[in-house]
Amino acid sequence: MNTPLIVGNWKMNGGLETNQRLLDDVRAGCSGLGRCDVAVCAPFVYLGQLQTLLTGSSVAVGAQDVSAHEGGAYTGEVSAAMLREFAIRYVIVGHSERRQHHGESDSVVASKARQALAVGITPIVCVGETLQEREAGRTEEVVRRQLAAVIHVNGHCISEIVLAYEPVWAIGTGRTAAAEQAQQVHAVLRAQLRAASAHSDRVRIVYGGSMNATNAAGLLAQPDIDGGLIGGASLKAADFLAIVAAGVGRASALR
Ligand code: 13P
Repeated sequence: MNTPLIVGNWKMNGGLETNQRLLDDVRAGCSGLGRCDVAVCAPFVYLGQLQTLLTGSSVAVGAQDVSAHEGGAYTGEVSAAMLREFAIRYVIVGHSERRQHHGESDSVVASKARQALAVGITPIVCVGETLQEREAGRTEEVVRRQLAAVIHVNGHCISEIVLAYEPVWAIGTGRTAAAEQAQQVHAVLRAQLRAASAHSDRVRIVYGGSMNATNAAGLLAQPDIDGGLIGGASLKAADFLAIVAAGVGRASALR
């Protein structure tokens, strides 16, 4: 079984003072942790602060985006090599909020994953359908298309990614996918990865979308839900740590 992975996605939230308090609590809560990997993905400007505050802890630092280009005249962009300098372990690519508000296509997302992989940063590749797509019975087609683009560009490196299934209708809405509903999509993604690479079983497929302290254990009890990508609940230490505890619980249950 893969080590569970719980990732906080702070989105555009935070501040130097509140970050410090939150990170102190998360760091303390994760010391001596059982088998569960934990990471926090913060806005770019705070990555130096996270690097300082989390060095020597079991909590890894992640970014929320990366440029699809290697470097040069791309005002406002941050390259994978720059992230590497801040000891960044993970970077989220293809979050639905970027696809929706910044027009990121499947092929841009695939290029971002490639830039991250090229410098040894693990891309957390997000896929997920909108409510309209689900209601039209197109969930499988949509997530398979989104993943296929990333497989196409990254080929054999695909076993080095983390995949996140985030149904758009469940993000920030308090409306979580039922555990079985999420498992069904995770199983489809797992099969697609297996067909692409002999080493893909090491890819962790995490769920995101209104995951919280109450529903985490149920989601993490599913065979193909290897962890969580947590938005709102990652901004409160107690809630985030309760989800981490559910991750540790998954590891113990499936050992
Ligand atoms: P919420 O947990 O706030 O629904 O956000 C999920 C998400 O988008 C994580 O990337």
